[in-house]
Amino acid sequence: MKDFTHPDVVLCPGGPMLLRGDHVVEDDAGVRHRTVRPVSAVCRCGRSGTLPWCDSTHRLLPREQRP
Ligand code: FES
Repeated sequence: MKDFTHPDVVLCPGGPMLLRGDHVVEDDAGVRHRTVRPVSAVCRCGRSGTLPWCDSTHRLLPREQRP
């Protein structure tokens, strides 16, 4: 049975999407990136300097431009 106390995907309000476990993320260019951490943060604002991963740049954005 699936453990609902620890979801695999969490959408953070105004911030990234957290992925728990081993995943492959395909970026806008079709390049595939494998997660390497127990929890990985995928950028949803598109402004990260380390796309597809979140580098916390979203925190510098005005609230209306955050995901
Ligand atoms: S969501 Fe964090 S830098 Fe884009």
